[in-house]
Amino acid sequence: MRKALRRAETNERYWDRRWEEAGSDAAAFDSLDIYPVKYAQMVMTDPDSSALELGCGLGRVVKHYHRNGWKITGIERSPVAVDRMREDDPELDVAVGDATDIKLEDGAVDVLMAFGLYHNIENELEQALAESARVIAPGGRFCITMRPDNIEMRLNERYWRWRNRHRSGPMHFHKWLVGRDEFAALLATHGLNVTDVHYARNMSILYRVPWLRDRRIATSAESVRRAGGYRLNRFGRAVDGFLMRRRPQDFCNVFVFIGTKGAP
Ligand SMILES: C[S@@+](CC[C@H](N)C(=O)[O-])C[C@H]1O[C@@H](n2cnc3c(N)ncnc32)[C@H](O)[C@@H]1O
Repeated sequence: MRKALRRAETNERYWDRRWEEAGSDAAAFDSLDIYPVKYAQMVMTDPDSSALELGCGLGRVVKHYHRNGWKITGIERSPVAVDRMREDDPELDVAVGDATDIKLEDGAVDVLMAFGLYHNIENELEQALAESARVIAPGGRFCITMRPDNIEMRLNERYWRWRNRHRSGPMHFHKWLVGRDEFAALLATHGLNVTDVHYARNMSILYRVPWLRDRRIATSAESVRRAGGYRLNRFGRAVDGFLMRRRPQDFCNVFVFIGTKGAP
């Protein structure tokens, strides 16, 4: 695992500010074939089961499944995000909480999802994984993501170093980057057995290039761009598709780990 250090503010401040500035998340995705819902669908197969999304942000996944009649809880550290979700829909089951100390009983949920969460946790990652494993029922499923240590993420780091080149002052921890097998092995130490790994994208490195963005959504609010999966224009999609077909492990920016607590 490798630390990428490149933020002028702490993770906590960053997310509060980002959610303060973002609009509300939509209650529906533009397509079920985009990150993260595409991967959520792989574990959300039994509508009678109970689900938890840890680090649910502004709630795009929680809202989607709530709207479709699922029993789903969202836990999120940012009070800004939780207040916003409650304003949007008081019926949502969401709470301020920390992944390192989950206020749920052992084995409380059948499905646990965490999109973009664990790479944020600098010092207590093991504790967060132990807590996640604790609240999943035996035989329950998980869908969790981590940031890969690959070409795409190294390009991304270079981009941010360039963007921050005139900044002075301390730079804070941003995220962990991991190898696929290394993280699967770490999950296994917590009794979380990986059955599938997917190479995904939430946002392509090409999206950093303004003229490669889909102009219909590029100037919209962040919530619109999030619901649309940070869509590229035709040319951008062609290049991106080529890279992802040829070298998905090197050009994805998210590893999605799907698996079961205990024996699969
Ligand atoms: C990349 S965002 C993802 C949000 C959401 N899962 C989504 O896909 O839209 C990561 C979220 O994790 C939250 N987070 C970071 N550390 C956390 C922790 N220790 N416990 C709970 N949430 C945390 C952040 O506040 C942020 O909202």
